[in-house]
Amino acid sequence: MELSRRNFLYSSLSISTLAMTNSFASVIEKVDSTFSPDVIIELTAQENRVSLTSDFSTMLWSYKGRLIKGPQDTLSEIKGSYLGPSLQFNTGDKVKIIFRNKLPESSIIHWHGLDVSHENDGHPHFAVNTGESYEYNFVVQNRAGMYWYHPHPHGRTGKQVFNGLAGLFIVRDQVEKKLTLPNNDQEMNFVFQDRLFDKQGNIDYRPTMMGAHGNVLMVNGKIAGETISVKQGTYRIRILNGCNARVFNLALSNGLKISQIGSDGGLLEKVNELELFYLAPSERVDFLLDFSEMKTGEKVSLDMYNLSAKLGDDSHPVLEFEVNNLKGERFSIPETLAPYKKLKRSEAVNNINIKKFELVMAHGKGWTINGQGYEADRYEDYEIINFGDTEIWEFYNPTGMPHPMHIHGTPFQILSRTSVGPFKGSLDEGLKDTVLLMPGDRVQIIKEFNTFKGVFLYHCHNLEHEDFSMMRNYKIV
Ligand code: C2O
Ligand code: CU
Ligand code: CU
Repeated sequence: MELSRRNFLYSSLSISTLAMTNSFASVIEKVDSTFSPDVIIELTAQENRVSLTSDFSTMLWSYKGRLIKGPQDTLSEIKGSYLGPSLQFNTGDKVKIIFRNKLPESSIIHWHGLDVSHENDGHPHFAVNTGESYEYNFVVQNRAGMYWYHPHPHGRTGKQVFNGLAGLFIVRDQVEKKLTLPNNDQEMNFVFQDRLFDKQGNIDYRPTMMGAHGNVLMVNGKIAGETISVKQGTYRIRILNGCNARVFNLALSNGLKISQIGSDGGLLEKVNELELFYLAPSERVDFLLDFSEMKTGEKVSLDMYNLSAKLGDDSHPVLEFEVNNLKGERFSIPETLAPYKKLKRSEAVNNINIKKFELVMAHGKGWTINGQGYEADRYEDYEIINFGDTEIWEFYNPTGMPHPMHIHGTPFQILSRTSVGPFKGSLDEGLKDTVLLMPGDRVQIIKEFNTFKGVFLYHCHNLEHEDFSMMRNYKIV
């Protein structure tokens, strides 16, 4: 079944009507007048023309950044890309970001993975119209890691992201600095996306119940396929799956294991060896790749496999590295990376009464969580949480499709997973903000709700599922 554009329009119209009658006044805290930002930037969402090949240029949407106050390296543009500037902050930075909407429709920015208050979280309720702006003021509280930003208006997130709106949000901290990991040009960040183009070379957004897929692989907002020249040294590589719907199944071409050092919420405590692993929409992986012992001209690629494939089956390269004749720095993997507090089952207030979330399609509602689609201002009992509590949530996927479930707010930890069939290889280590549920999977996560009161979202990060309408609010009171 295809989602028609009319369905989308209808769902966004009905929601904005709801939003007008609904008041968040009780949870909006006054902006602290003593807040004096260390860094001020402006991000404008606007139409943009990018030459993605020599034959055609594409009209799409991009975030354009401008640094108003703060260090020069806060903002870095990726040349020839449609992605917004990569932002870089330190933990503890006080940040003001002014979002200007020059799109022909309403929008709002969400800082994916960042722990910020309700009014800084880009909740669809705060979407601003064409020509309007929205001001964010927050302190970066997260540990070092690769986070990202993207639009979050209800019913339009999929379209806006597919049209080009997204960017990286890198956080640094002292713990990471002391570890001496590969840095400067031996640290590389990648955003994987797929896109569909029409004959004129413009983006062709086709939402379906399966999500919007493309047939062209994009890396960092450019068409994939460029070989990356690397020195004979150790590299730190971080990847964000920025696709609307595509789950990657990845492995190295040389059969070697990948030394994972970080996840969605930053560094792991100890290195984790990966063979063939899934990277679902909005998940991040951080790993070291050592080219020190390789000869000039040698190539290694990161290959993508079918979701049910085994190592050695058919695959296609996504990233290809070629070793050059330069000596790079060599790094060893620190014994201990960045410890974090492990949450135990016994700490959860509901450890004998675990909250259950079933990912199902409901008649007339599309994709849902426990049979409920998005509602602006209605909560089930289990969606109201006492501030300070730690809870265990169980997601179950009885459908035939993957659902990457994302929860806003503090990162969570994965307690258990049961899988059926051939679907193994999810990234469960470390601090997470998205957990992949392959068909048949049952996963328990544990999460603290102890930083901000207010209304936050949890949803499937298949963006067409989110828009239609596998998304709910939860409220911390
Ligand atoms: Cu990356 Cu609520 O989203
Ligand atoms: Cu998010
Ligand atoms: Cu889904």
